[in-house]
Amino acid sequence: MSGFRLFSVLVVAAAFMAPMLCVAADSSPSIENGKATFNTMCNVCHSTQKTGGPNEGPNMLGLVGRPAGSQPDFGKYSPALKASGLTWTVETLDKFLTSPMAMVPGTFMPMLIPDDVKRREVIAYLATLKKE
Ligand code: HEC
Repeated sequence: MSGFRLFSVLVVAAAFMAPMLCVAADSSPSIENGKATFNTMCNVCHSTQKTGGPNEGPNMLGLVGRPAGSQPDFGKYSPALKASGLTWTVETLDKFLTSPMAMVPGTFMPMLIPDDVKRREVIAYLATLKKE
């Protein structure tokens, strides 16, 4: 009887440990996966090139570190985003991309990434897009 109880405890412990190990393995998000997701969900509107590309949304080069609503070549920002006072960091992007409308009511940005892993991967990719 007590052997069975020990076994149950181990099974329960293993069930709790497995997801923790997955989270640990996921601590450094895949930039390649992020790029693939971006190219599926985002680059129809957002360019990642120095010149040209889509202009439905602002250019993503140099996004991390710049104030929200500040890309000079994009003339169609919502008043809400321009007035948000946000600066794009890994943290603010994580919250924004979870639900743009919840973070910045009135934003024109229509796309969200509900999946935590995918969102972190896209942000890791965005952080590689430097201006120079
Ligand atoms: C249908 C077009 C469209 C798609 C698809 C889209 N966006 Fe946007 N995005 C916009 C528009 C328009 C804005 C400007 C929002 C505003 O002014 O309120 C924007 C703004 C943003 C901003 C703020 C940029 C800045 O300069 O302040 C980020 C970050 C962003 N989008 C990320 C993404 C990501 C990541 C995806 C893919 C998951 C995505 N967008 C998909 C249209 C789009």
